Amino acid sequence: MCGIASYIGNKNAYPIIIKGLKRLEYRGYDSAGICLLKNSLLTYKSKGKVKDLENEFNKRPNSAFIGIGHTRWATHGKPNKINAHPHLSNSERLAIVHNGIIENYDSIKKLLEKKGFKFYSETDTEVLINLIEYEQKSENLDLFESVRSALKQVIGAYAIVVIEKNNLNEIVVARKGSPLVIGIEDGEYYVASDASPIIEHTKNVVYLNDDEVARINIKTGLQIKTVSNKKVSPFVQELALSIEDIEKGGYDYFMLKEIFEQPKSIQSTLRGRIKKNKIKFAGIKDFEKKIIKANRLTIIACGTSWHAGLVASYFFESIARINVDVQYASEFRYRNPVLNEKDVVLSITQSGETADTLAAQKLAKSRGATTLAICNVVGSSIARENDGGAYTHAGPEIGVASTKAFTTQLTLLLLIALRFGKEKSSIRDRDYQRMLIEIQMLPSLVEESLKVDKKIEKISKEFKDSDNFLYLGRGMNFPVALEGALKLKEISYIHAEGYPAAEMKHGPIALIDEKMPVLVIATEDEYYSKIFSNALEVKSRGGRIISIVFDDDDAISKISEHVIKVPKVNKYLSPIISVIPLQLLSYHIAVLRCCDVDQPRNLAKSVTVE
Ligand code: G6P
Repeated sequence: MCGIASYIGNKNAYPIIIKGLKRLEYRGYDSAGICLLKNSLLTYKSKGKVKDLENEFNKRPNSAFIGIGHTRWATHGKPNKINAHPHLSNSERLAIVHNGIIENYDSIKKLLEKKGFKFYSETDTEVLINLIEYEQKSENLDLFESVRSALKQVIGAYAIVVIEKNNLNEIVVARKGSPLVIGIEDGEYYVASDASPIIEHTKNVVYLNDDEVARINIKTGLQIKTVSNKKVSPFVQELALSIEDIEKGGYDYFMLKEIFEQPKSIQSTLRGRIKKNKIKFAGIKDFEKKIIKANRLTIIACGTSWHAGLVASYFFESIARINVDVQYASEFRYRNPVLNEKDVVLSITQSGETADTLAAQKLAKSRGATTLAICNVVGSSIARENDGGAYTHAGPEIGVASTKAFTTQLTLLLLIALRFGKEKSSIRDRDYQRMLIEIQMLPSLVEESLKVDKKIEKISKEFKDSDNFLYLGRGMNFPVALEGALKLKEISYIHAEGYPAAEMKHGPIALIDEKMPVLVIATEDEYYSKIFSNALEVKSRGGRIISIVFDDDDAISKISEHVIKVPKVNKYLSPIISVIPLQLLSYHIAVLRCCDVDQPRNLAKSVTVE
């Protein structure tokens, strides 16, 4: 959580950092701050979003060639001005921005208090900057060495940027468990939590690795060491991102842009992966035999990615006859799971930075399992930590509510299941060939499904004031029901539940009355007659049915108050198609309720804390 944007060079740092923070606001937006290094450390902080910070800055504007900035998602301490970053050391000579959690901050704090240090905020970050100051004073170290020395004592996760009064040539950065990228351009350096603030300045970047500390000095350049004092040669990479990828491109919200981008994103996911009727995955190839022989495939993920994992369990079981277990990463990591070298653990993650997924993956690896990942962000922590995997290539997803990440994950997972199905001959060749053709039609099928937008906008007006929603689906569309409910909850703050339709009669049916909107997802032929009966149960209790059906539907349409028709597809493609109207419904309802669609309250895009 939290976004870091910092700069050192020959330009005015403030506008560069503010723009960078706006690009990173999806990571957290409950307070923001900036510190400019001139003759002294000039600190500006505000509760709320980056635009509030701009107002604060405009009361006493200034300029400098060095600055560090932060947008926060609170962990230690309330989201207020005092707890906002940057934090200064007691002498006001050092300033820090930090993303992550210092787990042993309490014991360090007690130690520092005994040495006379005072603390003004409730944060772990203020403890860290004073530890750095203590190291500097007691050991007479320079900034770089004092940061390194302090980090040796720290347990937890961090990405930090530190500056020092009177040290106008350098900034010191470090990372462990939280991402940090350094952009390099002709004597100028940009430091950020991801590449989005950097891309408009340079394509040359260095991704800092765990346990690395970097001195960025405008005179001597970039020097990297590990915390344990080993020299590291910086590895400069070229960014594949473009500026259009991270701008709204005429849409009111990133979420809407990303919903409408899905045909293009799915096309990118498919690109180069089907050649002459064969499915190819370079990053998985070496583990194929292992997966086929594995005890089971355990999928770990959080949030929307967990829903993708649930859908994928149907793909792997039915198509490839592989035994699958799907776990919340946050639970799995504390379960003491029975794992050995015959297990394969697959993480699914958009950001590749979700702390629970990363920890669960590390646990699986430590127990001898083969670890693979389906990830969107290239070079992210999870992508780098596993044995193999594949990228979704959906492009940057900035809206906090995940949309294109989900449909591209499903596309990729379906392709992988098909590949194994073919290898194991658990799918008939005819079905395999047909599926390959249909998968390649997905971009145009999704394009077609997006045509329901105007109709959904109309329906949304009717239901925007509902207090509750129920989403029902069966089979592969049960996880889609969960995903539809999650989308509505997170961006419009309406309570919603997703249920397997048949389970409704074991409880949720009691909620149904003439005020209850019930989304019935009926896009799977196999379950059609069953879900029709479930829909009748809703209807006979007065529930207001909004159905998602194929374009040739008849029976369920007749008993629905509103019908949303999507193109008829193979059952394995149906979750990808039926989620589109649900994404649009949550979007329009949120807009009508004047909610901040891209930055819903209390949430953040990338949850890098437990
Ligand atoms: C957060 C986001 C969700 C996302 C989940 C998992 O809660 O708001 O949209 O699904 O994290 O994130 P990941 O990056 O691991 O897929």
